[in-house]
Amino acid sequence: MLTGKRILLIIGGGIAAYKCLDLIRRLRERGAAITPVMTRAAEQFVTPLSVAALAGEEVHRDLFDLTKEAEMGHIQLSRVADLVVVAPATADLMGKMANGLAGDLATTLLMATDTPVMIAPAMNVRMWDHPATQRNLNTLKVDGVSVVGPNDGDMACGEYGPGRMAEPMEIVAAIQTALTDGPLRGRKVLVTSGPTHEPIDPVRYIANRSSGAQGTAIANALRALGADVTFVTGPAEAARPTGVDVIEVQSAREMHEAVINALPVDAGVFAAAVADWRVASASDSKIKKTKGGLPVLEFAENPDILAEVSQMDEGRPDLVVGFAAETDDVVANATSKRARKGCDWIVANDVSPETGIMGGSENAIVLISEDGSEDWPRMSKDEVARALADRIAAYLGDS
Ligand code: CTP
Repeated sequence: MLTGKRILLIIGGGIAAYKCLDLIRRLRERGAAITPVMTRAAEQFVTPLSVAALAGEEVHRDLFDLTKEAEMGHIQLSRVADLVVVAPATADLMGKMANGLAGDLATTLLMATDTPVMIAPAMNVRMWDHPATQRNLNTLKVDGVSVVGPNDGDMACGEYGPGRMAEPMEIVAAIQTALTDGPLRGRKVLVTSGPTHEPIDPVRYIANRSSGAQGTAIANALRALGADVTFVTGPAEAARPTGVDVIEVQSAREMHEAVINALPVDAGVFAAAVADWRVASASDSKIKKTKGGLPVLEFAENPDILAEVSQMDEGRPDLVVGFAAETDDVVANATSKRARKGCDWIVANDVSPETGIMGGSENAIVLISEDGSEDWPRMSKDEVARALADRIAAYLGDS
């Protein structure tokens, strides 16, 4: 719930501005109060009247408004909220924010505020991919601005790709996380999840049966405790967690790169079923059936992401959690895996077919730590995730 929280919502000038009307409703349903601000461009897409009616408060539009300044100066206005949300954050607004321009009310408030700022970018895919936008995005992240979306999808301009504003409920989830006072507030946690796909040629790949369900549940549970979660996922079936930074990858090497880029973090949870090997020289063109015989695939070893992060001399997370899927001698195998990889905990499970765990909704795990092994009763993957998130919070709280 967001009862008692006030959000300063800055609506930028993009077609996605219409989604803000729904966003305002969803936030108010959860008890939040909204102070709406619109840029001139935003008024081309939604009317101040609609925004004011849904927010139940007047819309602030002008920097040089004597009446408003007499009631509440713009500096004060910038500080009344618990969170400033910019949605849609257009390429223009992001550029102005990153460079400290303050030529209108919206950008002046953003410069003057001492409140955390969140942006929900929305723009054409080429504008999003443009080096200038990516540079501005990095600057804003370094400045401590949190980012929700954008998503991949069909765009109003007819193109397809990243640039679509996050859906209102995703923005609500991110806002709830930002305003949660859970035990992991202010902590950064990385979660890997799903399978990896290792290409054989442009149309074929080697994969595994991981659904990503446990990884998604863990990311959601960590977020619910207030963590700032980066979720690096292979092509998994499971729905993506909400309110977290989702990075989609295909292969183990892409996952490795995304993980290294996400560091430093306070804790890393490596729930992905990473392929141990890739095809050494994947073909650039489709391998054809020939009379000459069968193709021979040679393998190369993938980077062991968990082992590398566990054994980092500098910048190692305070807590590194690995997973082990075993079919025999679960405790013995997982205990030696913990030592071999150098991680702090191993979440081990028995994935023999008769357990029905792989691809199912339940899990029965053994937690291996330096204190030995601990059997957890069989429970749903969501319950496992919550119990693990509580353990992580307790560990980081003590460290
Ligand atoms: N892992 C990783 N990078 C890899 C391989 C595995 O980060 N290239 C991580 C997984 O995310 C998981 C743990 O390491 O946390 C699993 O270790 P792994 O050696 O792959 O275990 P199994 O697949 O169970 O392997 P083994 O054949 O050794 O039983």
